[in-house]
Amino acid sequence: MSLTVEAAQDDVMNGLQLPEGVGLTALFAAYARAQETRRTDRLFADPLAEEFVVRALGVNAEGRSLPRLGPAREDDSSHLWNGLYSLFSARTGFYDSYLLDRVTADCRQIVLLGAGLDTRAFRLSLPVDTVVYEVDTPGVLTFKDKVLADVGAEAAIRRVPVETDLRDDWPRELLAAGFAPKTPTTWLAEGLLMYFQPAETDRFLDEIGKLSAPGSSLAGEYLTRRTRLTDIPISDDSDRAVATVFVSSDQGGPELWPPSEWLRAHGWTGDGPDLVDELNIAGRPVPELFNPHKPDALRLRLFSAALNPRDDRPGTANR
Ligand SMILES: C[S@@+](CC[C@H](N)C(=O)[O-])C[C@H]1O[C@@H](n2cnc3c(N)ncnc32)[C@H](O)[C@@H]1O
Repeated sequence: MSLTVEAAQDDVMNGLQLPEGVGLTALFAAYARAQETRRTDRLFADPLAEEFVVRALGVNAEGRSLPRLGPAREDDSSHLWNGLYSLFSARTGFYDSYLLDRVTADCRQIVLLGAGLDTRAFRLSLPVDTVVYEVDTPGVLTFKDKVLADVGAEAAIRRVPVETDLRDDWPRELLAAGFAPKTPTTWLAEGLLMYFQPAETDRFLDEIGKLSAPGSSLAGEYLTRRTRLTDIPISDDSDRAVATVFVSSDQGGPELWPPSEWLRAHGWTGDGPDLVDELNIAGRPVPELFNPHKPDALRLRLFSAALNPRDDRPGTANR
């Protein structure tokens, strides 16, 4: 992360220390899941999410509201947080269904790319012979494992943390951790692609393709374009600080739009709904951040895709 982002992150925390190596983005996603879990009309339940939040902040929230984390709070007073909360909650539901469909179709190897504080290995009732590889940086996974051990969480399936940087030789680390490249894989890149520049996402997708046996699939999401400060509704100083983190971290993601085009160019077939459609289906309000009626509105598309048969992949015909 750049110094500007780190300085903005410090502003958000206002003196609070985050655990070493745990970024705000992973914590915000956990915060949204903790908040969703507290609702009576929740879209899913993730009881461990609150443990990550309170332990990261070093506070106890028993019975009370979640502790505030910059703009993240339960009182509806931050337009920015309303936008992020809606995004994180709706996409969690979409990817839960994707993963459950994949195990129903007999795929037992799952790789969570940029897994963060995701607890699907614990909460989704996956078949016992499922293996879930959780790939993220050492700081995030060390904190996660410590909290999981402290609360005595035990996955009923095999969960394999893989500490690596997805810009380095992560395929080698994944293979060393036991990943089986001849077995179909269910890949998930949730909340990840925006941290990569367009050329990096192309390379990344090709690396995923090379590790994918026939029958593999991939899900993820990305924005129509890079975010600008003017896209983000600001309610106060902590919103402003997070908006700066958000905009500085956004490296653009894939260049081709819609996702079906980007996927097709790399040998995959798939597409998916706009976030706004997902929110409508879930009966949730569309936040100002994703207001589709604004000029040059920021749009986010979720997708799931299947790997094409070998002869239908770019550059592989007649080999
Ligand atoms: C927005 S969080 C999403 C986490 C998780 N998928 C979720 O939805 O809760 C992005 C995650 O990607 C991880 N990440 C970003 N760039 C990475 C990289 N180059 N290598 C490994 N992990 C990365 C971050 O550490 C963070 O945990």
